Amino acid sequence: MKMLEAKNIEKSFDKLEVLKNISFDVNKGEVLAIIGPSGSGKSTLLRCITQLETIDKGEIVICGDTLVKTVDGKAVYASKEDRHKINMHYGLVFQNFNLFPHMSVMKNITAAPINVLGKSKEEAEATAKSLLKKMGLADRGDYYPYQLSGGQQQRVSIARAMALNPELLLFDEPTSALDPELTGEILKVIRSLAEEKMTMIVVTHEMAFAKNVADRVIFMADGVIVESGTPQEVFENTKNPRTLEFLAKYNEDREG
Ligand SMILES: Nc1ncnc2c1ncn2[C@@H]1O[C@H](COP(=O)(O)OP(=O)(O)OP(=O)(O)O)[C@@H](O)[C@H]1O
Ligand SMILES: [Mg+2]
Repeated sequence: MKMLEAKNIEKSFDKLEVLKNISFDVNKGEVLAIIGPSGSGKSTLLRCITQLETIDKGEIVICGDTLVKTVDGKAVYASKEDRHKINMHYGLVFQNFNLFPHMSVMKNITAAPINVLGKSKEEAEATAKSLLKKMGLADRGDYYPYQLSGGQQQRVSIARAMALNPELLLFDEPTSALDPELTGEILKVIRSLAEEKMTMIVVTHEMAFAKNVADRVIFMADGVIVESGTPQEVFENTKNPRTLEFLAKYNEDREG
């Protein structure tokens, strides 16, 4: 079953074409890693899928529901009610955690289940507690975001996304604001979600993670999908000059 179908997506900011004819699918239970240089359009692509940006042309179908399709050369979006329903299919985790600073960890996680899904406080808190336990934060429910490390905040934001019981989780560079040790913590959590067959799209600069955890890798550059395939195809057997250049540059940076 397809959890996401993106077809021929085009998106410009004024005259700058940021996404050029992007097409890809994500199957249920699959982990897709999106890699590529800065400015290649990775965040814009995630923002278009999650309704934070609109596309100019193309089609996006999420869990079988059409968010947008093209009619007579123009993108036509689903109704507000349908878009709201589609919004409930996925959760998004940002680079900078985006927790509500004035709310406790518990409130951060329970606010949407109570206000959006209409769950009782008791039920929402029970779910939050089990998610916090899973994230290794069972004793942090009463803390405020400023009292947590970056890695802990990011684990809370993953718990917050999971509390809405999404069918698809999207991550935009979930570890790039973290030092290497905390990065490891987050990657471990994402890896354990992958083992539970959570469907995920992860934009990442962590090549080892993409190699070891992803089922499929997309390499983007200048608004196009240059290459996609298994980690082995992209990291070990690629003959694509643009991919080779990116990976070589990446290794150079790492080796300093
Ligand atoms: N709201 C916006 N208005 C105008 N231009 C934008 C906007 N958002 C993104 N862009 C431009 O679109 C291009 C792609 O940006 P995007 O953030 O998607 O890249 P990225 O691949 O996520 O890069 P990074 O790895 O640095 O996060 C960039 O040239 C950026 O300046
Ligand atoms: Mg980005």
